[in-house]
Amino acid sequence: MSNPYEDAYQLSRDDPAAFWAAAAQDIDWIKPWDKVLDDTNKPFYRWFAGAQCNTCYNALDRHVERGRGEQAALIYDSPVTGSQRTYSYAALLDEVARFAGVLKAQGVSKGDRVIIYMPMVPEAAIAMLACARLGAIHSVVFGGFAANELAVRIDDAEPKVIVSATCGIEVNRVIPYLPLLNTAIELASHKPAACVILGRPELAAELMPGRDVDWASAMAEAVPADCVAVAATDPLYILYTSGTTGQPKGVVRDNGGHMVALKWSMKNIYDADPGDVYWAASDVGWVVGHSYIVYAPLLHGCTTLLYEGKPVGTPDAGAFWRVIAEHKVKILFTAPTAFRAIKREDPSGALLKDYDLSTFKLLFLAGERTDPDTLHWAEDKLQVPVIDHWWQTESGWPIASNCMGLHVFDVRAGSPSKAVPGWDVRVLDEACNELPTGEIGAISVKLPMPPSSLLTLWNADERYQQAYLEEYPGYYKTADAGYMDDDGYLYIMARTDDIINVAGHRLSTGGMEEVLAGHPDVAECAVIGVADPLKGQVPFGFLILNAGVTRTEEDIVREVVQRVRDQIGPVAAFKQAVVVDRLPKTRSGKILRATMQKIADRETYKMPATIDDPAILDEIEVALQSVGYGKNVSS
Ligand code: COA
Ligand code: AMP
Repeated sequence: MSNPYEDAYQLSRDDPAAFWAAAAQDIDWIKPWDKVLDDTNKPFYRWFAGAQCNTCYNALDRHVERGRGEQAALIYDSPVTGSQRTYSYAALLDEVARFAGVLKAQGVSKGDRVIIYMPMVPEAAIAMLACARLGAIHSVVFGGFAANELAVRIDDAEPKVIVSATCGIEVNRVIPYLPLLNTAIELASHKPAACVILGRPELAAELMPGRDVDWASAMAEAVPADCVAVAATDPLYILYTSGTTGQPKGVVRDNGGHMVALKWSMKNIYDADPGDVYWAASDVGWVVGHSYIVYAPLLHGCTTLLYEGKPVGTPDAGAFWRVIAEHKVKILFTAPTAFRAIKREDPSGALLKDYDLSTFKLLFLAGERTDPDTLHWAEDKLQVPVIDHWWQTESGWPIASNCMGLHVFDVRAGSPSKAVPGWDVRVLDEACNELPTGEIGAISVKLPMPPSSLLTLWNADERYQQAYLEEYPGYYKTADAGYMDDDGYLYIMARTDDIINVAGHRLSTGGMEEVLAGHPDVAECAVIGVADPLKGQVPFGFLILNAGVTRTEEDIVREVVQRVRDQIGPVAAFKQAVVVDRLPKTRSGKILRATMQKIADRETYKMPATIDDPAILDEIEVALQSVGYGKNVSS
């Protein structure tokens, strides 16, 4: 017997235009579309071609117009500053319209780029929505990236304005942002016309005359700006994510398709209703923050929660329970690593007893695979469904999930459940043939992808095609490997590229290798991700030094660790490296990173048939053992 999930999935596959046209009824359009799916320029598919809309109008204005003005739109909870603030929909609209006026006064108009380099404060969301209001394209850069990463993004996006703040706060450490911003602008060839700086009480602003504008003074004088009509297919934002080199990929998302898919997901995947309190404990710098802190909850008329703190240490492992109880959260979305951190500090869940969690109904986890231990611990302690769901910066919303508003399937540990309606997921072999169930292959999505998936990479249509579409013609390559079982449950096993997941953050080991290789004493290097009980994976470096280097290995390791922190940022969590004489390679010279990773993680591995010199693997094992990793179990 079919169920609402199967009916929806079938329709989305058989008649995507009908499926998404129905979902699009929940969005207010300035002008309706000419074509639901425009496939005239394959593989560049466009949703809702010919339509005009405004994302900010759908997120704020229409709710105020229809009586939701006094409802809380955004609750800011900041244990690191000891403050809280609630914005009603009317108040948030007022702030956003005025900040749009500030940007307009700085010359920002439709199509201009604005970089937002902000900590987790409401003003970050206000700046994003203000850009959407003007039809400007925002690009939020995560605060834990170093100046160099910001500079690369400035040069690629060429922003007219940068919005930033005087500081972020990491538990109890004040992180000054302006030195990073100033260095980034110095390093970049492109210079913004202006920077708008939010002064925070924790650190006063030292503004640069002629360049910087003070947020508060500008807001005091601002003339509120109206919504600007944009094409549904116009970009709403660029979000940079790690690629296989140090050059990040600028994922481009549109306005119309993005709204339709996100709005649909709130009820059908998350089982959220307008008025519910929905909390994504992530950061606005990541895609989870874009989709599920800012846009989706507001499009759906929910109350969103913006939390400036950590799961532990602000002040303890009961922080999440306090927030849920205090603000009556119904749905929490976070990364498994947050739960591993809580479990480590409070294994028996003793702190739960201090809080009333009666409003709490659902926990969603993503960003990395939810390990069965964490899943069962959370189920046991919280007594709510715990839903692992799988997605990527590129997808913008879940590709696989138990769709809690459609039909609840049994949870299977280790699986993010089934493909979400709209996503035609197939598992392929190297020759692009579909594999039988149970066999591991490249998890791919048959084109066209649903609304809200990436349009292209900013200024890089060719790189988009080459990175995602060329290897499996007719499919989008997710770069995740895994399998599907007989019942359609997906299992995501590993990345097929050099991306690693550190505490739910996506990082490129290739990018780190570029930084290590820049050290004057390093002749060759490799970075792999090794298993970590808290963060899932952490990066680990191998260095071959230039002949004749006489400085100590400890000094050089310390310097490369500092280099990664300075050039990529603390978020990379690169803290360990060893010096080796040789790296294991294939006869054609490719470094055998996957085998090295298996040795580090004490996994069984097969001796690669193409290995040049098997003895090097023993040397790698000895080096890893010297720092506490890897007892080899070869077969
Ligand atoms: N600005 C400046 N520095 C930042 C930063 C920011 N916005 N975010 C992180 N950092 C720094 C941290 O201070 C830390 O620096 P350190 O090496 O000096 O200690 C480093 O970057 C790594 O940060 P983080 O990944 O947060 O690790 P942590 O050890 O501080 O905390 C967890 C571990 C598990 C508590 C933390 O990773 C966490 O809460 N994860 C939740 C998962 C999440 O939000 N995922 C997002 C995708 S859903
Ligand atoms: P990001 O683009 O930062 O969201 O990272 C996307 C990558 O994180 C995916 O390609 C996966 O490798 C991994 N990932 C995200 N969610 C899951 C999940 N639920 N299970 C397994 N891997 C996941």
